[in-house]
Amino acid sequence: MTESDQRTTHFGFQTVAEGDKAGMVHGVFTRVASRYDVMNDLMSGGIHRAWKTAMMDWLAPRPGQRLLDVAGGTGDIAFRFLGRAPGASATVLDMTEQMLIEGRKRAEAENLADRLDWIVGDAMALPFEDESFDVYTISFGIRNVTRIADALSEACRVLRPGGRLMVLEFSQLPNPALQSAYDRYSFNVIPLMGQLVANDRASYQYLVESIRRFPDQESFAAMIRAAGFEQVRYRNLTMGVAALHSGWKI
Ligand SMILES: C[S@@+](CC[C@H](N)C(=O)[O-])C[C@H]1O[C@@H](n2cnc3c(N)ncnc32)[C@H](O)[C@@H]1O
Repeated sequence: MTESDQRTTHFGFQTVAEGDKAGMVHGVFTRVASRYDVMNDLMSGGIHRAWKTAMMDWLAPRPGQRLLDVAGGTGDIAFRFLGRAPGASATVLDMTEQMLIEGRKRAEAENLADRLDWIVGDAMALPFEDESFDVYTISFGIRNVTRIADALSEACRVLRPGGRLMVLEFSQLPNPALQSAYDRYSFNVIPLMGQLVANDRASYQYLVESIRRFPDQESFAAMIRAAGFEQVRYRNLTMGVAALHSGWKI
């Protein structure tokens, strides 16, 4: 038995062996890949687009930068980044090949294929040399990663000094009444939508449970500092339904 068979973690509200979680997450995203983009629009009423725009506004991409977008899925963040930064390039890394396949189709349709690389890989063990990128992004990905601290320390390793980390993730509403209204929506409506639109209730049940398990804004900011980033700040989006965290490798 290996150490990761003995250690446990969470998969939504279930406790699972650490070594099993990545395979379960991979299963979820392989199943939802072909409906991923349409489900994002439906579940959030399109608001995820405004959050991604807010991410780009704070990030302020510059010409020629090299972006690494981890857990980049179907490429939403990389496309937006390249759209704002002439001469920039982007590497999209994700552990689920099926998500990258959907992304590649979109890149070809949007004539962005020659500025993009698509790599199957793990956020916790990035297949890149130290100091290879100017910007590291991870959007709605980090809460799925088995050992978040390992992913953040890999982010710090692959960024050049002066490089920037930005994380977009679901977060916690500071107001308990709003949090409870939001919980009612997410636990009742989202798995049902998953069943009706993607014929997959379980994957969307995991999604809402994983959101509730993710650390609050301050705790996550502390994890980013612990990984070696400085000037760590966050901004709430839609009252804390999601949050952006920014940090610099100095
Ligand atoms: C909710 S999707 C986010 C996709 C995209 N970034 C977006 O904002 O729309 C989460 C992605 O994280 C990927 N993922 C989860 N754990 C990962 C890991 N350890 N390494 C790389 N990718 C991972 C999944 O395969 C999935 O494509």
